Amino acid sequence: MCGVVAVLGKENASQLVIEGLKKLEYRGYDSAGITSVSQGLLQTIKSEGKLLNLIGKLDKSTKEKLYFDNSIALGHTRWATHGNVSFENAHPLTSENKIAVVHNGIIENFEILKKELISLGYNFRSMTDTEVLPHLFMKYIKMGNDLLEAGRLVLKDIKGAFAFVAMSVDFPNQLFVSRNSSPLAIGLGDNANFIGSDAHSIDHLTQKIIYLEDGDHALVKINKISIFDKNFKKVSRKIINIQAEIGLITKGGYKHFMEKEIFEQPVVLPQTTSSFIKNNSEITIDLDKLGFKNKNSLIICAAGTSYYAGIVGKYWIEQIADIPVIVDLASEYRYRKPSIFGQNSILVISQSGESLDTLMALRYAKELGLKTNAIVNVEGSTIDREVDYSLYSKVGPEIGVASTKSFTSQLVILFLIAVSLGKKFNSLTLTQMRKKCQLINMLPSAIAKMLEKENQIKLIAQNIKNSKSVIFLGRGLLYPLALEGALKLKEISYIHAEGFAAGEMKHGPIALIEDDVPVIMFLVSDGNEDKAISNLQEAYSRGAKIILIADKKCIDKATFAHFTVEIAEFENEFKSLLSPLLMSVPAQLLAYHVAKERGTDVDQPRNLAKSVTVE
Ligand code: F6R
Repeated sequence: MCGVVAVLGKENASQLVIEGLKKLEYRGYDSAGITSVSQGLLQTIKSEGKLLNLIGKLDKSTKEKLYFDNSIALGHTRWATHGNVSFENAHPLTSENKIAVVHNGIIENFEILKKELISLGYNFRSMTDTEVLPHLFMKYIKMGNDLLEAGRLVLKDIKGAFAFVAMSVDFPNQLFVSRNSSPLAIGLGDNANFIGSDAHSIDHLTQKIIYLEDGDHALVKINKISIFDKNFKKVSRKIINIQAEIGLITKGGYKHFMEKEIFEQPVVLPQTTSSFIKNNSEITIDLDKLGFKNKNSLIICAAGTSYYAGIVGKYWIEQIADIPVIVDLASEYRYRKPSIFGQNSILVISQSGESLDTLMALRYAKELGLKTNAIVNVEGSTIDREVDYSLYSKVGPEIGVASTKSFTSQLVILFLIAVSLGKKFNSLTLTQMRKKCQLINMLPSAIAKMLEKENQIKLIAQNIKNSKSVIFLGRGLLYPLALEGALKLKEISYIHAEGFAAGEMKHGPIALIEDDVPVIMFLVSDGNEDKAISNLQEAYSRGAKIILIADKKCIDKATFAHFTVEIAEFENEFKSLLSPLLMSVPAQLLAYHVAKERGTDVDQPRNLAKSVTVE
């Protein structure tokens, strides 16, 4: 999603902005741009595609001395929403070359505003919703307002979710910033201040951060920051000291971040477990805070991979604790007028803590009177700050767009919630609870064993890399894994893939089977494997290429499979209960190797963003 960085009061501001934009690259974008002020004039450089293109242009202009001595600059990585990917639509967008604005989010009423501005003689050069912002600023500044007053009038005009930064040559060394639902951080320096879409994008400049709250706007000067809330009342916001994460954000010798993030799971997942399990078997999740003083049902909301984690969570919580769980797509929740009968709380799941769909679902649940809880990886993110209680994934920054280690850490937390609820409401004895904690403590070494299958998965990847479509099947706890396996494959390899509950095939999707269509099943012997094998056989009989990743018992039964990967032997309860965690590894490796074979951009796949801050 779009990323915003601005620097005020430091020499070579443009270069510092570029450093910040590089740190936002992982979020996904398709064009970039930067504006600084030189000799009283705005200087803007933009380009389609990756930052390297912009940097090339910037270097050239620096040589031509356009950008010397600038101490104010703002920059942007754009993920196209309104208007295609093009030079004109890239940000910063300007008005009369005196105002420049960078913006993340959507101005929902831009069409009406655009019409009015056109009738006043403003010339629109882009197809974006954003371009109304610089023109509105221009209009109000021409009426005699200063930057702060003009910004406030702009805020009164616009509707939507946004975070933006505006600068004007008429008010040198000032920036107007505002946020509504999209994240924005202000960094405090010595005689310098900085703005970023997240704290990490400016942690090379400062460790002192203020997060604006929703509806806030601020006037940022070199040595003064004035913040106002949505009622235009002056407020002070807490200064937070963050730790630079620079050391953590390297590929550590791997070719891609995704590969590194898959392989570091045995090392980072103990960070998740150890923050919720004390003395080997005491789970420290506060069930009262989670909304379980009494036995109620639960609603889980999330998007994408986090939603699939939610489905696994539902299966575990219902199976282990006998508590009914509804799982909803965050983007659907508030628009379908859900019933909250029997519910006391909502649990949202979000790696980034910034997905706007999930944030909106959370706010809606709050309005309905539910307690709000979250599983998040990014501490200090908007969702983290808005919920009553956060459970942190603790797996460190995830840079690859495809969720890997954050998915497995979400599963670990959901499993511990299920076990903890099971104990509290007497579906589990103390001994059974302790046993389940032991199982989860065995997970890192089991994941390491799953990773040893990489070479066999590579062979499958080579075999299916040219397929037009791939089908994933799963039953029970491995049904959500079929959905996740398909999502992972399609998002980074661009091969069409669908996941189905294996038993559903005969109700329609089996019509898709033709010669050589790969049908992939993850399976463990849990007493119900025969049904899944029959479903696989039905696909085999219609010509599908059968790929089975399973334990020995299942592989021995499915003698018809074309490719098999036999996983290590684990204790029965461990294998069946934690099968979604085990099978996440081959699902991730398969997607990764197919994408690598096809030469796609594994870490920043086309059209995708790491942090999806539009609805
Ligand atoms: C897929 C993926 C996405 C995210 C989804 C929600 O690999 O990463 O489907 O899971 O956009 O993101 P978060 O968890 O940050 O709310």
